[in-house]
This record gives sequence, C-alpha cells and structure tokens, in this order.
Amino acid sequence: MLSHIIDVLADPADGTALSGADDFSRLVSESGHSFDVAKQGYVTLAPGAGLKHKGDDADMVTAREAYLSKGHFAPFVEAVTGAVQNALDSTVSADDVPEPALLEVGAGTGYYLSHTLDSIEGARGVGLDISPHAARHLAKCHPRVGAVIADVWERLPLRDESINAISVVFAPRNPAEFQRVLAPGG
Ligand SMILES: C[S@@+](CC[C@H](N)C(=O)[O-])C[C@H]1O[C@@H](n2cnc3c(N)ncnc32)[C@H](O)[C@@H]1O
Repeated sequence: MLSHIIDVLADPADGTALSGADDFSRLVSESGHSFDVAKQGYVTLAPGAGLKHKGDDADMVTAREAYLSKGHFAPFVEAVTGAVQNALDSTVSADDVPEPALLEVGAGTGYYLSHTLDSIEGARGVGLDISPHAARHLAKCHPRVGAVIADVWERLPLRDESINAISVVFAPRNPAEFQRVLAPGG
C-alpha cells in the first residue's frame, strides 16, 4: 500500500515531500500539487506534461504473469532476493533501519519484489513501472508494496537518499537517478 512508502515519495515536478490526503485517495505535495490514487491502489507521479513513453500493454503483462507462475524463473527470483539481502546486510543494520526501503524499477507484475519482501522482514517496496497494466498487478502483489507509475528515464518521484536497495530485472535503468535516490552505501 502507498501508506507504507509515503515517506520516500516525492513530487515529480519539484521533489518536495508527499503525504496522503482524504484517506489516501490522493497524495499532496508540500508545494500544493495533488495526485489522485487510482481505485486499484496505484498512483501516477508524472510532471505536468505527463509520460512520454509507454510500457507493457495488457496482453504482455498477462503473458508474463502466466509464464512466471510456471516457475521457470524461480532460480532468478531466488538470486535477486539473495542479492538484495546481501546488499542490505552489508550496508544497513536491522537496529538502525528496521524497515529498509527497496525500489524495483520496471517491476512488471511484482514477481521479484513480492518474493524479496516475503524474505526480508520489515522491508517495504516501491514497485515502479510506466505501465498502468503492470501497476494494477503491483498494487496487489504484496501488502508492503506501493505501486507507482513513473518513467525511469525522467527524474524519479523519490526523495534524495531514501532508498536502501534498487533492483532492476529485464527493465531500463537510470544510473544518475539511482545514485541520487540511494541512501549512502545503498
Ligand atoms: C521485460 S518487462 C520486465 C518486468 C519484470 N521486471 C519482470 O522481469 O518480470 C519490462 C518492464 O519495464 C517497464 N518499462 C518499460 N519502459 C519503462 C520506463 N521508461 N520506465 C519505467 N518502466 C518501464 C515495462 O512496462 C515492463 O513492465
């Protein structure tokens, strides 16, 4: 749910902090911008001009979910979870950061992120994807996932140094923005 990750989200236009309003039916920024939360639970965080790119369509997301559900990529999901766990073990202590914030970019159906959260107690995750079809899956893939529609090639709608680990699986990446949003050592 978005309430689990609200502290790491930022206004896509000016980077100011966001908070939930009207029982989390919308997010509002310190600068006064408002972003409606879809009834399916995700939010689109794009500046005024909107999104310039398109992600996966409904058929692609459905096909991916069907394929992943057969377990063909189970070794990958275990490896990704292990890599995230190792990254956290070497950078944050559970005492200092009991609820580390994970970001998966191009998160698709949430297959990887939900598995990682199942394995790391207390962690919460931003599932970011540009596709509304993917976002619908992300919003329900795990209770500690907040689903965000955004374009990884733009300024990410995330606070500086707010994220403890980033994963990207078969999806585009933005190293400069990843550096900005990662906490020291992330
Ligand atoms: C090949 S799929 C991989 C999905 C997931 N990581 C997996 O492996 O199951 C690529 C994903 O990246 C998303 N994507 C493509 N361009 C993007 C962009 N510019 N910003 C954010 N997500 C994007 C697509 O919508 C799609 O969900």
